[in-house]
Amino acid sequence: LASIEVDLSAIKEGQAIKTIFRKQPLFVRHLTAAEITAADKTDPASLRDPQTLEQRTVGGKKQWLITMGVCTHLGCVPLGAGEGEVKGEFGGYFCPCHGSHYDTAARIRKGPAPKNLEVPKYAFKSDTVVQVG
Ligand code: FES
Repeated sequence: LASIEVDLSAIKEGQAIKTIFRKQPLFVRHLTAAEITAADKTDPASLRDPQTLEQRTVGGKKQWLITMGVCTHLGCVPLGAGEGEVKGEFGGYFCPCHGSHYDTAARIRKGPAPKNLEVPKYAFKSDTVVQVG
């Protein structure tokens, strides 16, 4: 299966972009310090799908959150990566189909989705280039 490279250099802090990976939307988000803090201070034990931001990022680079842009409920594309910055009640992504709210680590916090947004396999090729897949 094909992998892709994503250039991170143009993604500003606080910005998320949407691209395509294996025919599905992929979100690449540059978290602000406040968004990292918000994710880190949430007790994973309180979550439906318990994971830390650290576990959902690679190489200690917690500012780069790379997830599929596919809601784990019924597969709609959540908002928050470019459409007027609709981020939902927990500051991450919001799926308008049935109202799932994801936090700044793209973890499910409210609504019907059962799982966090999926993190694909990826690795940093340099400080500014990531290979996904
Ligand atoms: Fe996202 Fe149902 S598909 S909430």
